[in-house]
Amino acid sequence: MNAKNPVPTTNLSLPLTPYYLLDEAAIVANMQIIARLCELSGAKALLALKCFATWGVFDVMQPYLHGTTSSSLNEVRLGYETFGKGRDSENKKETHAYSVAYSADEIPEVLEYADKIIFNSISQLNAFKDQAAAQNIPVGLRLNPKTSNSSFIIADPARPFSRLGEHNKDSIAAILKDITGVMIHNNCENDSFDAFSESLADIEVKFGDILQQLEWVSLGGGIHFIAPHYPLEQLAERLKTFSTKYGVQVYLEPGEASIHGAGTLVTTVLDTMYNEKNLVVVDSSIEAHMLDLLIYRESAPIVAVNSDAINIAPLDIDPTNIAPISENTESADNTIIYGRSCLAGDIFGEYTLANTLKVGDAVTFGNAAGYTMVKKNWFNGVNMPAIVIRRLDGTIDIQREFDYQDYKASLS
Ligand SMILES: Cc1ncc(COP(=O)(O)O)c(C=O)c1O
Repeated sequence: MNAKNPVPTTNLSLPLTPYYLLDEAAIVANMQIIARLCELSGAKALLALKCFATWGVFDVMQPYLHGTTSSSLNEVRLGYETFGKGRDSENKKETHAYSVAYSADEIPEVLEYADKIIFNSISQLNAFKDQAAAQNIPVGLRLNPKTSNSSFIIADPARPFSRLGEHNKDSIAAILKDITGVMIHNNCENDSFDAFSESLADIEVKFGDILQQLEWVSLGGGIHFIAPHYPLEQLAERLKTFSTKYGVQVYLEPGEASIHGAGTLVTTVLDTMYNEKNLVVVDSSIEAHMLDLLIYRESAPIVAVNSDAINIAPLDIDPTNIAPISENTESADNTIIYGRSCLAGDIFGEYTLANTLKVGDAVTFGNAAGYTMVKKNWFNGVNMPAIVIRRLDGTIDIQREFDYQDYKASLS
């Protein structure tokens, strides 16, 4: 359902849980940090749709960003249709296309939407560069410096035998005439400016003479510059110096930084049990609705229990400082919150809570905007969370609800 006439919060009829709740004010707070970084550094910021593609809030993001970047034909089309298209030239947004591997039949359509196309390998570049050139679309190549800032091997672009980008300088030099820029993504939630700066220095040592000959360099995402106390000015200065030294337009591709702390997942307790610890089962599932918790074996922060989740003032949830109420695996009275899928390890987290949870209680988890809605799935047929948006003026928009027909249609 698309709510055409958002109702004031007070008169609100909310969907049944579970639902994702996005907060436009919190998104704008992140956008302002990004815009400041761009203003100080001269860099351009593209939203990484792989992280967040809930286009119902793009209107509040567009004024601050320079466009979108993508990982597939579907994403580049979405970026073009919802963010890039139809803007007058003054406000023209860029639509970057990238994919780990394109199929030949996708290329003509990708080129309809793309302002730049970045190939992951020299073989893909050679296969498709002429089609891009025929349409005057600038071509880029992903480089892999073989070093990174990532605490997770599964998310490390520089992992051994990585397929993410080219590293051999002689091979890259041989195709330099075919590209105007490169993309290097080698950070993952990196909140250390020093680590970022060192890694950029390493890139300069490895690829400096190549960078000199280019027009643009995208440094990807994964820089956690919205973290509290992150030295934003230092980062801006570093980017500006880099840009001036090589004569390139720098792009950043913030995904998580764009929406960190701006979304919650509101759930309801369906059952409680006891097995040496308090066990709680909620009406959601990490495998289906917050998959990264499973992949990275992390806990979801609880931001509210039984409070009126919808009326938590936008910035009551500090976007950059969301942590579990408390985690204590030693304690005898701790509580494990489980999802309702059949996966034995479908665990939101283990917490020490002030009060024991009971059936019907509402539990709101934080940090539920990035890499959640783009990854949600119908495992176990668990009800799909609705998408609810708290608009800048405080009104609540039930943007989308899902039902049995959506589940059925997702199969065949
Ligand atoms: C090429 C590229 N750009 C941007 C991003 C966005 O990263 P983040 O959401 O950590 O900012 C990713 C994440 O995997 C990526 O692979």
